[in-house]
Amino acid sequence: MTKEELLREFEKTYGAGGEIATVFSPGRVNLIGEHTDYNGGHVFPCALTIGTYFAARKRTDTKVHFYSGNFPRQGVVERDIAADLEFNRRKGFSNYPMGMVWTYGKHGMKADCGFDVYIWGNIPNSSGLSSSASIELGMGKILNELFRFDVPNLQIALYGQYSENNYNGVNCGIMDQFAIAMGKKDCAMFLDTATLQYEYAPIELQGMKIVISCTNKKRGLADSKYNERRAECEEALSELQAKLPIKALGELTEEEFEANKDLIKDPVRIRRARHAVCENRRTIAAVELLKAGDIAGFGKLMNASHISLRDDYEVTGIELDTLAEESWKIEGCIGARMTGAGFGGCAVAIVKDEAVEQYIETVGRKYKEKIGYAADFYVVEIGDGTYVI
Ligand code: GLA
Repeated sequence: MTKEELLREFEKTYGAGGEIATVFSPGRVNLIGEHTDYNGGHVFPCALTIGTYFAARKRTDTKVHFYSGNFPRQGVVERDIAADLEFNRRKGFSNYPMGMVWTYGKHGMKADCGFDVYIWGNIPNSSGLSSSASIELGMGKILNELFRFDVPNLQIALYGQYSENNYNGVNCGIMDQFAIAMGKKDCAMFLDTATLQYEYAPIELQGMKIVISCTNKKRGLADSKYNERRAECEEALSELQAKLPIKALGELTEEEFEANKDLIKDPVRIRRARHAVCENRRTIAAVELLKAGDIAGFGKLMNASHISLRDDYEVTGIELDTLAEESWKIEGCIGARMTGAGFGGCAVAIVKDEAVEQYIETVGRKYKEKIGYAADFYVVEIGDGTYVI
């Protein structure tokens, strides 16, 4: 969507005139390092060139209007900075942008008037490519523009996580908001979630593409299952702390974990913690391989990541397993795994240029045969973090 198209859509919804702020906020894909961000481990995500577009203009009263071009049947959703600022289940998607208005207010940056917002995105719905974090970051940037708040992107990411945790009730880590805020064209980010130290790693996929496949599965219980996994890890950590002076599972090597795992009194929790520990070490190793130009080695670790998420962490399910396992059979697929929280959502694969067409055709056919409905495929590009258009 161009800026002109965005402005035209805004004016169609709210009328012409006044000063209109415009922002783009990307989606993200995580290449490796899954369910490590709330365990003090490493992640390796990148921002995408698909994402969410925002246009907004101040009003003279206290009303806040949200219109999503993706949910036209919901029409304009009305909120109010004075009377309807708290989470409101009946107001659907507007709770994501409104959570940011609430969060800014909690941190001393109160909007002093209402505003109209137009939102449209091309991230597939419920895909696990972080459309919600994309909206949070975009809304933070819009608030900056409208009210001259001047919050830097890294801080907007922390506010986005705060909003998701405290307003929307999902106990997520920092990965999604960070990746969306700090993304850089053609680079992935190697982030240590324990310290927020990060470095950019160029993704030079010569002769290869990143292909995302979307299960199209309804993600009913995803949020509660996510919170359950997080609680299991916290409990395993506290059992290990009976003997080990650690603050997070991400501090352990595989060997240290194996030597001490019997402190954890439940076999399921042992598997959960083993995933968190091994996935973190795998992520560190994968980035080393990539830096050394060993993309085949990187791909093998992507596959190993999926297996650990399938068997130890149990967040894949038949849909994501089918996508990954069918991908592994394709000659020219370097590596494939689920990405994001799991329980549906998307898989990510690195595929040689000449194999992409056949990859999409074959994996798509096998998926439909087994699951009964189709998957969607996207060849994606790595783009910049949230910016003013
Ligand atoms: C979701 C969360 C992230 C992260 C991933 C799993 O995307 O929002 O914080 O925990 O799941 O890696």
